Amino acid sequence: MLLVRNLSQIATPTGRGAVRGTAMRTLNVIKDGVIVIDGERFAFAGRESDLAPSVRSKIDGDFDARGATAIPGFVDSHTHIPFAGFRESEFNRRLQGETYGDIAASGGGINATVRATREATEEELVQNVLARTRTMALYGTTTAEAKSGYGLDVACELKQLRAIRTAAASSPVRLVPTCLAAHEFPPESRAGEAARQGYVSTIVGEILPAVSEQNLAVFCDAFVEKGVFTRDQGEAVLRAGAAMGMTPRLHADELSDTDGAALAASLGAASADHLMYISDRGIAALAASDTVANLLPATSFFLMSDRYAPGRPLIDAGAVVSLSTDCNPGSSMTESMQTVIQLATLRMKLTVEEALTAATLNGAFSLRMADEIGSIESGKRADFVLIDAPGYLHLVYHFGINLVSAVFRDGRRVAP
Ligand code: NIG
Ligand code: FE
Repeated sequence: MLLVRNLSQIATPTGRGAVRGTAMRTLNVIKDGVIVIDGERFAFAGRESDLAPSVRSKIDGDFDARGATAIPGFVDSHTHIPFAGFRESEFNRRLQGETYGDIAASGGGINATVRATREATEEELVQNVLARTRTMALYGTTTAEAKSGYGLDVACELKQLRAIRTAAASSPVRLVPTCLAAHEFPPESRAGEAARQGYVSTIVGEILPAVSEQNLAVFCDAFVEKGVFTRDQGEAVLRAGAAMGMTPRLHADELSDTDGAALAASLGAASADHLMYISDRGIAALAASDTVANLLPATSFFLMSDRYAPGRPLIDAGAVVSLSTDCNPGSSMTESMQTVIQLATLRMKLTVEEALTAATLNGAFSLRMADEIGSIESGKRADFVLIDAPGYLHLVYHFGINLVSAVFRDGRRVAP
């Protein structure tokens, strides 16, 4: 067993399920504690004086944390990392006043990445995923969800999902795959309602069955939005995915209120994501459900919007709130959960404690993994991050830099 000693602080949410309401502010904070790792799992986290002799006698290695603070590995439960190409020139156009919508309408946006991703080889996508997960790990992420959705046909959606699976075998970050074939209508199916309905039929009749048969995705996602998938189309896709064993997630109320949050809750979705335009009805629906409100403040920031999801009202209403990067080449080109935590506190008025709970245990809950990861507790997988700080408040207080000094996943150091 490995003893991690010389920690200024251990700060972690606790439990094996969702955390709501005022409980999101309650961290277990241990000053001058130690962590003991047994193989891939935590055997102990607490004061050294409370260490049972039976555990102490099995310690045969030691790691000097040099006064760092230990927090759980971040769980980034919403990313789009298997993509090819970048869209920095679109970004530059946005800086000069064009909107995300203008750019998509002129042939850019998601479909620009679809073109590049269709052209990429599977091996290129594997390398892209690996490069992004290495950056994620350097910034403290130990588990990430990863979506397809830049293929938009059978062959390329499968290519993206296989790239996630292949990368997962050597990635520093644990990866959880989601099929997002309903991300956008592909160029060949955009003209007219019949063509669009045809693509929905392809998703339901071909893409999801192939994904399910090859066991390539745990979750199924859809983008319900004006001009993209209607509520009925999104619901059809998610119900089909669920019938094939893939739990729904939903891009909901991102650019307008489509009552997406209530739809997600009614489908028993694992998460409703974005929610910049969620209504009071949507907030109430999530609060009354186990569907996690997954908030992505880096997207508002990067789109230069003043509109952030109502994180404070969602928590106060009792919804389970998580935080993620939305890492993608168009609306949020970042792998940093530290940046996300800073935006959640400074722009959405979450407390640091709430943001840390949202970025770890509640993200794990939305991936259906809260019994295994998301907190530093005996028995869970030993995923944790050492930050170069005397305490967890520095996660926001000392902003704009990378505080991470070491990252462990399954008890092994994976970064730097
Ligand atoms: O989550 N909502 C749609 N999808 C992405 C953007 C993808 C892109 O611009 O490539 C999002 O923001
Ligand atoms: Fe997204």
